[in-house]
Amino acid sequence: MKSIKLLVGLVLMVEILFSFTYPQPLPKGSMARGKKVYETYCLACHQADGSGVQRMNPPLIRSEYVSGDTKRLINIVLQGLNEEIEIDGDTYSTPMPAQGHLNDREIADVLTYIRNSFGNKGKSIDPVQVNTERKKLK
Ligand code: HEC
Repeated sequence: MKSIKLLVGLVLMVEILFSFTYPQPLPKGSMARGKKVYETYCLACHQADGSGVQRMNPPLIRSEYVSGDTKRLINIVLQGLNEEIEIDGDTYSTPMPAQGHLNDREIADVLTYIRNSFGNKGKSIDPVQVNTERKKLK
């Protein structure tokens, strides 16, 4: 009994150590699918390299909105955004139209894509997280 507990403890310790050393891999295929969604629905405004259009469409590079709180990020895509925001010293106040017509997986994929492109490095977003936010809107 004692040795089993010891073994379980050891396995847990190794797992915790590994999760610090190696970042979680992104879900298979999500980057490729997310890139397609981005090119179809976001690129025209935010540009291919995520640099945006100064004082009109904000960049997705070094943006706290992209790398920060995932609930806020999901809701920007679901509901659009219409408030004055500041990124990299520039202010933006053009409204962004809601993209809630995209399904949960498309939104999860495109957000995983922008969180891991343009020099960003962030945890992936799961369709379940998107669905949870979508349900709150009803
Ligand atoms: C018609 C142009 C347009 C489209 C299409 C568009 N956006 Fe935006 N986006 C904007 C504008 C303008 C803002 C700033 C809104 C504000 O200041 O209220 C913004 C803000 C954002 C922000 C928060 C600020 C930042 O730069 O980090 C994110 C994240 C974002 N958009 C992601 C997306 C994603 C992902 C898509 C595609 C699913 C998309 N946008 C489609 C114009 C657009």
